[in-house]
Amino acid sequence: MKTVLITGCSSGFGLETARHFLAQGWQVVATMRTPREDVLPPSERLRVLQLDVTDAQSIRNAVEAAGPIDVLVNNAGFGAPAPLELTSMETVRALFETNTFGTIAVTQAVLPQMRARKSGVVVNVTSSVTYKPLPLVGIYRAAKAAVNALTESMASEVEPFSVRVHIVLPGSSGETSFRDTARTRLRGIDDEAYGDFMQQTVARMLASTGPGTRAKDVAEAVWHAATDPSAPMHIPAGADAVQWAAEAR
Ligand SMILES: NC(=O)c1ccc[n+]([C@@H]2O[C@H](COP(=O)([O-])OP(=O)(O)OC[C@H]3O[C@@H](n4cnc5c(N)ncnc54)[C@H](OP(=O)(O)O)[C@@H]3O)[C@@H](O)[C@H]2O)c1
Repeated sequence: MKTVLITGCSSGFGLETARHFLAQGWQVVATMRTPREDVLPPSERLRVLQLDVTDAQSIRNAVEAAGPIDVLVNNAGFGAPAPLELTSMETVRALFETNTFGTIAVTQAVLPQMRARKSGVVVNVTSSVTYKPLPLVGIYRAAKAAVNALTESMASEVEPFSVRVHIVLPGSSGETSFRDTARTRLRGIDDEAYGDFMQQTVARMLASTGPGTRAKDVAEAVWHAATDPSAPMHIPAGADAVQWAAEAR
């Protein structure tokens, strides 16, 4: 029976992905900053472990407790919309710590066992915002684009060990806690210089009625990456992400 370890399973895409792999009969190591058993259906194949991707000791403990991992899904992440000038360096660092450095650190912790077994898949969840030069999400885009870049580069490094890497790029979703978290971190809406631009941009974003992304789309994209050796490296997830990927070509 295969085992998947997923980061950021307390809500949203990570939680839905854990549910999907459980339903498919896999062993699931669902990791969370604050572990909660009650968000997932009870199963002998489920283990909930504490893992904060910004904490080296927490990563070590979780990877050791997990045992052999066939598929790693780096999903934990958050956004903090604001113009670059108004984003504190503390927030810049926090965005990179979780979205970029966290992904690198967890991957480094899991790769040795995959390399030794000559088998494994790493799926990094980034974002369709990396397809377009959208305002107010520059630092978040940069943090996710860095993950796109490092994943592309490591593909040929780990290929000789029969380890595959994939990038799942979700579109915009209202089904997760992402927007609520981003709203609490939004800065500049009343700013003298940027306020008008921000209000117009945010209003335009809220008014856009294009196709959105469902948590299910992301779970299925991760499943595709995990189980199909012929899956492409970049997998847009959700109708809006598929559209943006096509426009970016
Ligand atoms: N929703 C969207 O529109 C969208 C679009 C494109 C990409 N994404 C990406 O998709 C991924 C999942 O987001 P989501 O939409 O499912 O949002 P979500 O519901 O807010 O889920 C984010 C998860 O990441 C966890 N997390 C945050 N910081 C962490 C840390 N330091 N260590 C471990 N876990 C941490 C959160 O845990 P806590 O509960 O402890 O905070 C939560 O479980 C993220 O990487 C996000 O950037 C989202």
